[in-house]
Amino acid sequence: MTERFTGSFTQQEPIPEDGIAAALDVLRHGRLHRYNVAEGELSETALLEQEFAALVGARYALAVASGGYAMSTALRAVGVKPGDRVLSNAFTLAPVPGAIASVGAQPVYVGVTEALTIDLDDLETKADQAQVLLLSHMRGHICDMDRLMAICNAAGVRVIEDCAHTMGAHWRDVPSGRHGAIGCYSCQTYKHVNSGEGGFLAIDDAELAARAVMLSGSYMLFERHLAAPDPEVFDRIKYETPNISGRMDNLRAAILRPQLRALDTQVGRWNDRYRVLEDGLRGTPGLSVIERPAQEHYVGSSIQVLLLDWMADKVRDVVARCAARGVELKWFGAREPVAFTSRYDSWRYADTPSLPQSDRVLEGILDMRVPLTFSLEECALIARIIRAEVSAVFQSQT
Ligand SMILES: Cc1ncc(COP(=O)(O)O)c(C=O)c1O
Repeated sequence: MTERFTGSFTQQEPIPEDGIAAALDVLRHGRLHRYNVAEGELSETALLEQEFAALVGARYALAVASGGYAMSTALRAVGVKPGDRVLSNAFTLAPVPGAIASVGAQPVYVGVTEALTIDLDDLETKADQAQVLLLSHMRGHICDMDRLMAICNAAGVRVIEDCAHTMGAHWRDVPSGRHGAIGCYSCQTYKHVNSGEGGFLAIDDAELAARAVMLSGSYMLFERHLAAPDPEVFDRIKYETPNISGRMDNLRAAILRPQLRALDTQVGRWNDRYRVLEDGLRGTPGLSVIERPAQEHYVGSSIQVLLLDWMADKVRDVVARCAARGVELKWFGAREPVAFTSRYDSWRYADTPSLPQSDRVLEGILDMRVPLTFSLEECALIARIIRAEVSAVFQSQT
């Protein structure tokens, strides 16, 4: 009998009961705006920021409306201006070059390796073309951060990290987002904590943090933050920093606080599922799993495999055959973007360089979400389906 998977690749777990209870409290008192507090009250948003700063070991943290907003705010805070060039990944998701475009700057795309991380040799050759790198840990793959920081420090390039897929991950013992000047995170439904929309910035530098707080729309209410610099720092920047509103609100913060407390447990559950999938897929003819370095403590909330040097119609065949058995794979290499875009030549508002080695990798990437609603048995079933369909198509080509 042909096995079929019947679960949903877009169904996340429910919000924890303590998050629902805290959200109901906020709804009942009605003070949803982060600066709307009763006498002596600390807002859910301010508490969330304090807890997030402690979680990632940052001096300052700011909660905002989305991951994309966190990145554009970070770019503004470090001083990126219209016409500037910003280094970034050729393989990432559209909001990353979009954040660069939103401040009127131009992305300079850096290639991707077979490890699905930024090509550090390519970065080295391009490092003199910009003063800022917006580094995306796309799909949770973390490059050699020691070498990356050495390259950027030598070239005087400031690093902003896009940690949309690495909240809870580490490189060695350093939390993702804590190598560069600013770490940006997302709390959108498909990420590691879920408030529908939302984001964070983690920052150590007082002036950068004050700028980010002002930019996010604090008016002159910055003293209501619990993870922001002292008022004297704001005195230096408060008249020259525009308000570009993108605040977090107390309802979403209430939902997020219990999820942050559970993050470590959830990371363990994601990685249990990832390992079952990886074990089931390793050794499939024609398919490579992405081997991960020992220094990388990742969060397996999605999995990627490579069908390197396959003909496009054969990759399409694999995707269709898996879909017919209930397994939703995304082909990141498709020439024409489907529901998402993840390759540099889809973002034609910037110059698209010739990156043949990256094209080869991009054309082979298959991606799959791993929601925590999947059981380990279901992950094993999914791996068997992919293995069978890849093998069947691979044999038909040879
Ligand atoms: C790699 C990457 N970076 C940034 C973002 C932006 O996050 P948000 O949707 O919260 O704006 C996403 C969203 O999917 C993403 O996949």
